[in-house]
Amino acid sequence: MTMFKKTLAAAAVSAALLPAQAIQAGEVEVLHWWTAGGEARAAAALKEMMEEQGHTWKDFAVAGGGGEAAMTVLKTRAVSGNPPAAAQIKGLDIREWAKLGFLTSLDDVAEANQWDQLIPPVIADVMQYEDSYVAVPVNVHRVNWLWANPEVLESAGVAVPKTLEEFYAAAEKLEADGVIPLAHGGQPWQDATVFEAVALAVMGPEDFASAFVEHDMDVINSARMEEVFAEFAKVMSYVDDDAAGRDWNTATGMVIRGEAAMQIMGDWAKGEFTAAGLTPGEDYICAPAPGTGGQFTFNVDSFAMFSLSDDDNTKAQKDLARTIMEPEFQTVFNKAKGSIPVRTDMDMSGFDACAQASMDTFKSSADDGGLVPSFAHGLATTSYVQGQIFDVVTNFVNSDNKDPARATDQLAAAIQAAL
Ligand code: GAL
Repeated sequence: MTMFKKTLAAAAVSAALLPAQAIQAGEVEVLHWWTAGGEARAAAALKEMMEEQGHTWKDFAVAGGGGEAAMTVLKTRAVSGNPPAAAQIKGLDIREWAKLGFLTSLDDVAEANQWDQLIPPVIADVMQYEDSYVAVPVNVHRVNWLWANPEVLESAGVAVPKTLEEFYAAAEKLEADGVIPLAHGGQPWQDATVFEAVALAVMGPEDFASAFVEHDMDVINSARMEEVFAEFAKVMSYVDDDAAGRDWNTATGMVIRGEAAMQIMGDWAKGEFTAAGLTPGEDYICAPAPGTGGQFTFNVDSFAMFSLSDDDNTKAQKDLARTIMEPEFQTVFNKAKGSIPVRTDMDMSGFDACAQASMDTFKSSADDGGLVPSFAHGLATTSYVQGQIFDVVTNFVNSDNKDPARATDQLAAAIQAAL
């Protein structure tokens, strides 16, 4: 054998010995807005699992709770012909992006890994465009939670409020005890998150869905909705005067430190308690938002996948999609993030009590009609309607003269205009 042939043969042998992924390593650029403590830990888990497969992770993090800033940046990048491989896009927006021709089919990954059997049909439907998977779901967040500091409640002599009436009574005592009853950040999506919890408590799941999913004008423009605004105003009156612009995780920090007693926020807040090394039931309390026990407002994070031209990067993108649905990722990620796995076949015994309660309520509410999509987090309606609701709700929060009847008229007009 000539020297040249020997070298070639040796090269062939060592190539055969290399793991397949090392040969086909690519880069995945991933847009997300997970920059708070718990969120960042969760995102890091995904990065690590991609790097273990030999791929390069290019982090495209755009800070800002709720993701509005991230979506603005994504649009600029996509329009200039340079989208990332994957972007955290949720709900009905996934279809909008697919319709514009930006997204790629994941059907080969979905078929090979039996996604149809693993993902609940309501969620699978959101991930598809014209019967093809174009996005992969990461988790299920429950939005209608109340987070509380047990020591602070105890020192004011109050129990965890189960109804809005109990919440007001507790808030009065907490205020008298010199503590901020409700930690909150004055940003439109946070205002909408609290408004949504109050709407569910006042209207119940059926009317909630009629108003915010089906946009039935008789339900939107109703005395019931005026009641929602009136109760919402009352809830918000227990927020301190410095809330304007405050980030949600800063508000969670106030509960952790005992400066505030409670926060109404989705369970990404639990990621903050977990990152601080705290234990539910001992150091903090998770309970349904007042008046919404047994009900579940769902928010599903998902990555939509953009069409790419480079083969190695496409391979990395498909590996990302596959990895996200695997039990190992679903466990590590969701423990850090505060959410529950999107797969219904997961063993929940290693999860904390809040996650176990969340999974139980997710399943029971799916059976009894108490499961509703979150409009504050893009699962119920289009981003146009969502933007209109945010405007009305935030204007209401910031107005000195809160008039529920006027706000209801404005909400009806705003939703109508966006349909
Ligand atoms: C939600 C998102 C969560 C969490 C939260 C705060 O819309 O679904 O994953 O990040 O915003 O940023």
